[in-house]
Order: sequence, then C-alpha cells, then structure tokens
Amino acid sequence: MSGTAAPGPGIELATPDPADAPPRAPHGSPEQPLGIVIDCDPGHDDAVAILLALARPDLRVLGISTVAGNAVLESTTDTALRVLALVGRQDVEVAAGAAHPLHGPLRTAPHVHGESGIEGSPLPAPASTAIAEFAPHAMARWIRGATGPVVLVPTGPLTNVALLLDEHPDLRERIAHICLMGGSLTEGNITPAAEFNIWADPEAAAIVFGSGIPLTMIGLDVTHRSIVWEAERRALLDEGGPVARTVAGLLAYFQGFHERTYGWAGTPIHDAVAVAHLAAPGLVRTAAVNVEIETEGLWTRGRTVADLRRVTGRAANAHVGLDIDRERFVRILVDAIRSYD
Ligand code: RIB
Ligand code: CA
Repeated sequence: MSGTAAPGPGIELATPDPADAPPRAPHGSPEQPLGIVIDCDPGHDDAVAILLALARPDLRVLGISTVAGNAVLESTTDTALRVLALVGRQDVEVAAGAAHPLHGPLRTAPHVHGESGIEGSPLPAPASTAIAEFAPHAMARWIRGATGPVVLVPTGPLTNVALLLDEHPDLRERIAHICLMGGSLTEGNITPAAEFNIWADPEAAAIVFGSGIPLTMIGLDVTHRSIVWEAERRALLDEGGPVARTVAGLLAYFQGFHERTYGWAGTPIHDAVAVAHLAAPGLVRTAAVNVEIETEGLWTRGRTVADLRRVTGRAANAHVGLDIDRERFVRILVDAIRSYD
C-alpha cells in the first residue's frame, strides 16, 4: 500500500545552541554568489542536487568531484558529465576521486539506484570529459582559486573530503563550511543503525566530523521529511520541459525503492536538501550538538552518534538537521528545475 503520510513532526529540542556552537552555513546572493564544491556519487538525488545548484543565482559551482558510492567511480563520473550535458554546463570541471573507501571494499547501492547508479531516464551523452587531476587535488585548486568563502557540499561517501583535508591541511582555514548530506539521528537506511554515505566510509566521516571545520549534517531525519510526492512528480512530467521530464523519470525510478521500503508514493531527494539549505536560510531547523562516528560497532558501524541532550560534555561540532519546511523545499526545487524549460 503506498502512503502519502510523511513521518511525524521533527525532533523537538528545547535547549538553544551552546555558546561554543560552530558558525552556521553562510549564504550567497545573486550579487555575491556563494562558491560551492559538490562532491558526489550520482545517484538520482545527486543529479538533482547538481541541477538545483547550477540553477541558483546565489550559488556558484566551482567544480564537481566524484566518488564511488551509489555506483562505481566510472559510473558516478560519467553520470556527473551527462547531467552537465543535459543543461549545457559542460564548462563546469569534473574531477574523479576515490574508487573505494579509505578502509575495506567498495559497497555500492544497486538496489536503490540500479547498477549504473542512474536508472530510470536516459541522460544525454557527455559533452566533456573529466579532468586528469585526482579530485582531492582539484578540490584544493578550486578552493585556493576562490575569491570568497567556499562551502563543500559532500553528497556521497566522504573519502575525497578526508583525503583533501589530510593532503592539504592548510586549507582547513579556507573552507568556510561543510554542508553534507549524510547520517541519521534515528533509523539508518543501509543498516538499521547507519545511513549510506557515512556507512560507506566511516573512517573518512570521522576525519571530516573531527576536522573542526564548521559543519551542517543534513541527515535522514530531515530528508525523509522532504519527500516529493507522486502528484508533484507528475506535475513536473506533465507541465515541464525536457529537463523537468528527465528529472521526473529519474524520480520515478528512485521512488520505487522508497515505495518498497517505506510505502511512500513519493521520494526524498536527499542530496538536493543539502544544496537547498545553502540557498534558503531557515529552510531546515537545526541544533548544534556533538556528533561522533561509530567505526567499530559490530551492528552500528557508520552510525552518527549525536549527543542531542548534551550529556557527554563534548563540544558541539555540527549543526544537525531536525526538520524542514517541505513545501518551501519543493517550491525551491521545482522553480529551479523549471528554470531550464
Ligand atoms: O543515504 C542517502 C545518500 O546515499 C544519498 O546521498 C544517496 O545519493 C546515497 O549517496
Ligand atoms: Ca549521493
């Protein structure tokens, strides 16, 4: 039975952010767009996140780095190039990164995204090729070359970001914020305890969450409340232009996993929420708490352990998403996709 009932209200936290909370994510404007680097594993929702970012006048995509995750690196890189070709933005550099996590084997998600990582709607052939530079090095160059603050937007496993921070420690000061899709305060989606992006490379996630760089965690608690329902998808298909129809086709496939797993007649677009958070102050309600990454647990490896009640005394290192204005998110997303009509 397919339901249209999203989960209940967001997580309620009465306590205000502590005085030592990290700075919140910066925002841009059409006059001074915020420079972002998208590190992704396309992936249906990564693809939509890229399209959203490219459509926003208040964001400037400095580059796209790819990582293995939803599919193997060759596929995620090819898909990133195809998404750029879809909207004629082959001017944006794409750099391929890690083909496997820091430790252990690569584990992909064909049960969610299909073997290619992007089943459901044909994308055009790439109109460009990935640059030869290894992604962590290209990311460092994009950051160094930026004139204003730079926000990293990881929407896949955090391997490239961990390598970037390890190999270019001086850049920690140049990265204003990391706004990532990943983690969960409640249930997981790849194991009962863990969300896929964190589970895919927990050691890399531990490096990123322990980096001291101001961070926002857009987890499943928020993205599972950002569902695009079938009627909204249908409207894209019936009323939109070629890009909207392509997105509607991608969402139809992605929705299948969520119908089978959660009974939803709709689909969360996880990665697009991380981009939308940068474009819309107040869209996501957050709380500044300590988040540690479980790397040892037999049943809990990849778990984001958030100290919501601040009982550990550990300093807050992340703004974690608690709830989202879904209707506002869908308006932002549809406006962006329809801007390509
Ligand atoms: O758990 C959802 C996340 O894992 C999304 O980023 C999706 O694209 C996959 O990478
Ligand atoms: Ca992703």
